[in-house]
Amino acid sequence: MVREFLWWRDGVIYQIYPRSFNDSTGDGIGDLNGITEKIGYLAELGVNAIWLSPINPSPDVDFGYDVADYRAIDPKFGSMADFDRLRKTAADAGIALVMDLVLNHTSDQHPWFLSACKSRDDPYRNYYIWRDPAPDGGPPNNWQAVFGGPGWEWDEKTSQYYYHMFYQQQPDVNWRNPRVRQEMLDVFRFWLDKGVKGFRLDVFNVYFKDAHLRDNPFALRGIRPFDRQIHQYDFDRPELTGVLRDIRRVLDSYDAAYAIGETFMSTPEKAAGYTGDDLLHACFNFKVTESRYDSCMLMRRIVEWERALGPDRWPNYAFNNHDTKRSATRFTHGENDDRLKVMAALLLSLRGTPFLYYGEEIGMRDIKVLRKDILDPIGKRYWPIFVGRDGCRAPMQWDGSPQAGFTSGDPWLPVHPNHIRRNVAQQEQDTDSLLHFYQRMLALRRAQPALIRGEFTPLDAGARAVMAYARKLGDETVCVLLNFSRRPHTVTLPPGKRYTSLLSSDSRPDGSALSGTFTIKGNEALITYEE
Ligand code: GLC
Repeated sequence: MVREFLWWRDGVIYQIYPRSFNDSTGDGIGDLNGITEKIGYLAELGVNAIWLSPINPSPDVDFGYDVADYRAIDPKFGSMADFDRLRKTAADAGIALVMDLVLNHTSDQHPWFLSACKSRDDPYRNYYIWRDPAPDGGPPNNWQAVFGGPGWEWDEKTSQYYYHMFYQQQPDVNWRNPRVRQEMLDVFRFWLDKGVKGFRLDVFNVYFKDAHLRDNPFALRGIRPFDRQIHQYDFDRPELTGVLRDIRRVLDSYDAAYAIGETFMSTPEKAAGYTGDDLLHACFNFKVTESRYDSCMLMRRIVEWERALGPDRWPNYAFNNHDTKRSATRFTHGENDDRLKVMAALLLSLRGTPFLYYGEEIGMRDIKVLRKDILDPIGKRYWPIFVGRDGCRAPMQWDGSPQAGFTSGDPWLPVHPNHIRRNVAQQEQDTDSLLHFYQRMLALRRAQPALIRGEFTPLDAGARAVMAYARKLGDETVCVLLNFSRRPHTVTLPPGKRYTSLLSSDSRPDGSALSGTFTIKGNEALITYEE
């Protein structure tokens, strides 16, 4: 049987990009009261936690990922009282809150940095990474910024460079400074004391850089100068482990507190290496997120992830987030959602914590943004190689009204023109909709402990395009069959048993008996129960 329900292990986490979820004031930007209004919707959907992309005060050079105060709420999202009300309303509905902590860098408008820039002797100087120029007057080493240009910015006033892995307005903090470490651990305590249950740690694996600032070796790949290096000295430094242990000790002094790390440029091995009883509870493995719609590729990557983690560490799966083209855009043409039902069935029946991204449950597609309208600076700089991340951050499509029910004003990014037909209100009416499918899958997951805690065993159903696996817990076995092709296939389940359909994305009635060999329809997702 499932042991006591543990929200982050057994539950489902829903990521909200607060600017785009629901605007309660009419200023075109989503806000906390807007989210509070929709807690009923999220409870009905059946999620157990919401992860909020950053809501701290920010000049928005990187839309919240440049934080100017770790302990406050950006007024554009509301007040601390609004936050407390959101937390309480969510908790009353059984939904925990996960905050996004961006602790690798601050905004250049953070009081620490403003102070650090005053003089070389400023008490906050050593909160950041400052260096004299190289003998030729240039930057101290060859490190590059992710968002373009060198990683070092010259400060005229104090005649030194400071380091920034992302935008120049995002100076990296100096985690080697014990005061910084203390400040950051206190940020965790601050939010935990306010009742927050978990954290998503932005690019945590770059907190530390090489103490000697050695040059990175060159790599013959990529287009951006950043990609043309092996990140030996600016990523994944050994000192990180000590900090992860400190963070974990703080978390363990609260009830069921949790942290998931964004393992930047991750591999399964790296992500698994940072996960453990005295490290983070979980880390994202983007190899699965970035997979194609291909049963073999996905299965290979899932098995690789399971192996890297082993039996004692808990996997997690996400096919969407605020940095990636939506799976609906990557995997579908037009407005057909059959493939998205297959992906939903996969996400919600794997062994591991599922992460949904707002709008995924109604199959939101990326908006198309003209070059002149791009807001994401990486898109402005690298268009057309990278068009930026605005596409996946468009307003949530609540209904068919002019601004999709998101705002009464002018939305900060345009709503997708398909919102007239594709929206929550419409899909709530239609029992064949993707939204209904997500609700049914989430309900099935809750009702079948094997889908939550069961062992994961890949099966060979006899057709390459059909992914098959069993989830087994005690005497209960659930078999999952996912047809990734348009064509029907003959499939075989392990012999000697009888099976009943629990849920199908096609017209197959729930509860129908299945013989050992039968036909699965094109793009059908089928969950069966072994009698
Ligand atoms: C992470 C965030 C991304 C942000 C970057 C810099 O990758 O997910 O949105 O731009 O960190 O903070």
